[in-house]
Amino acid sequence: MQGIATGRIVIVGAGLGALYAALMLAPRPVLMISPEPLGQGASSAWAQGGVAAAMDPADSADAHAADTLRAGAGTVDPDIARMVTAEARAHILKLTGLGTPFDRAADGGYVLSREAAHSFARVVRVKGDQAGAEIMRALVAATRAAASVQVAEGWLATGLAHDTGRVTGVEVARAEGSAALRITAPAVLLAGGGSGGLYALTTNPPRIRGQAVGMAARAGAVIADAEFVQFHPTAIDCGADPAPLATEALRGEGAQLVNRLGQRFMADLHPDAELAPRDVVARAIYAQTQAGLRPMLDTRAALGPRILADFPAVAQACALAGIDPVTQPIPVAAAAHYHMGGVATDADGRSSLAGLWACGEVASTGLHGANRLASNGLLEALVYARRAALSIAGELCAIPDAAPVALPDPPPAAGPDPALVARLRRAMTEGAGVIRDAPGLSRCLARIAAIEAAQPDCPALLNMTATATLIAAAALMRRESRGAHCRSDFPETLPQARRSRLTLAEALALRPAPEPETT
Ligand code: SIN
Repeated sequence: MQGIATGRIVIVGAGLGALYAALMLAPRPVLMISPEPLGQGASSAWAQGGVAAAMDPADSADAHAADTLRAGAGTVDPDIARMVTAEARAHILKLTGLGTPFDRAADGGYVLSREAAHSFARVVRVKGDQAGAEIMRALVAATRAAASVQVAEGWLATGLAHDTGRVTGVEVARAEGSAALRITAPAVLLAGGGSGGLYALTTNPPRIRGQAVGMAARAGAVIADAEFVQFHPTAIDCGADPAPLATEALRGEGAQLVNRLGQRFMADLHPDAELAPRDVVARAIYAQTQAGLRPMLDTRAALGPRILADFPAVAQACALAGIDPVTQPIPVAAAAHYHMGGVATDADGRSSLAGLWACGEVASTGLHGANRLASNGLLEALVYARRAALSIAGELCAIPDAAPVALPDPPPAAGPDPALVARLRRAMTEGAGVIRDAPGLSRCLARIAAIEAAQPDCPALLNMTATATLIAAAALMRRESRGAHCRSDFPETLPQARRSRLTLAEALALRPAPEPETT
């Protein structure tokens, strides 16, 4: 493999955590690996809700931390929850200073939305459902203007270079498929997103398929909480892949869930009805779908025509799907949305491998537990991007004088076979989805093994199968139901709450022999 050395800090990914960390590292030179043109293809830009932060004087970081703990079903680290929620306000002010046009009231205060399982309206938003897009617009502009940041657009990280427990750089290839190059670097920050796209039904952008978690796992990093995958209850069920999101903020405004018989089913299931924790609502939606009752989100009474101006992303998705939300309820399904699990980090974003840090959805910091509280995802990415940047800067001490990296043009090579990726996504939805059991998880692992064996020399596919293996193996090992992890064969929640920590080698030990596809 061709090799290059740089003094630049390598950031894998180009979403909110990556951009914010690059700005926090300035003037230290950074090389950012971005598969798409900057600002495109990252989950962050698709985030509709916003950033959770106690901005109202009547609210408090402690109340926000308490809600985070409650939603997380026993496995949130209370110190991490207190730290993240206490830092939230400063990041909202920083993003405002960077040009994010958060919605403001006449008195200048932030307009705050209510989302599920929050005891207070505390989600800072932009034009209803535009928070992710607008925050990313501001950060992309700032990153483009930062002389210290070199962005390698059209390149994809496919692996980590490592030696005896230390990460020494990254392996990259052209995003459309090519031979890999090895870039040796003083530090690597993984900020390459989550794993939702490993499932056939997902709200995540097409490239977000667990690759970043997988490459860390293949290098030997400890992966925490892999079994906890959050399913969003109101993905618009219109046959699109990925499925567009109908933000939870709509339910915060009073939109109701009904089925094709016109029954409002959430009120019977939880005292908070539509604003019950996300895992509860997702399971209810899934049950309605499985029963053929076609769940729908009815925004008509709560919003009427206001949905068109106040929630432009939802309105546009409905228009593309031929749904008129002013006159019709929106068909919805539970879709893989956010991975609470990921690369285990300490409070400064340090992974178990020297030289490797992680922030954003790829990381598992202990904030989300078994069920992430709505709009805590972008918040966690901001907090840990800054903390990881400070930690890297502290460890590297001096600012390296690094010239931009000249990346040679590698020869073309095949990327993952799309048919295998489709099989993998089906296997995950069928075997490691909203409701799980031991036979289904074991079969899922065997199917993953067969998919991996069909293209064993493709690192981008191996990254996906590594993460899929970790999710299914951790789910098999957790013999209880907790938060987003629901086992039909172990419906009880055990009294002792614990986080899971697993290496890929340990997960592979649970994987049965490959099972050929029969359908
Ligand atoms: C939503 O807007 O419903 C999603 C927000 C989030 O995932 O936190």
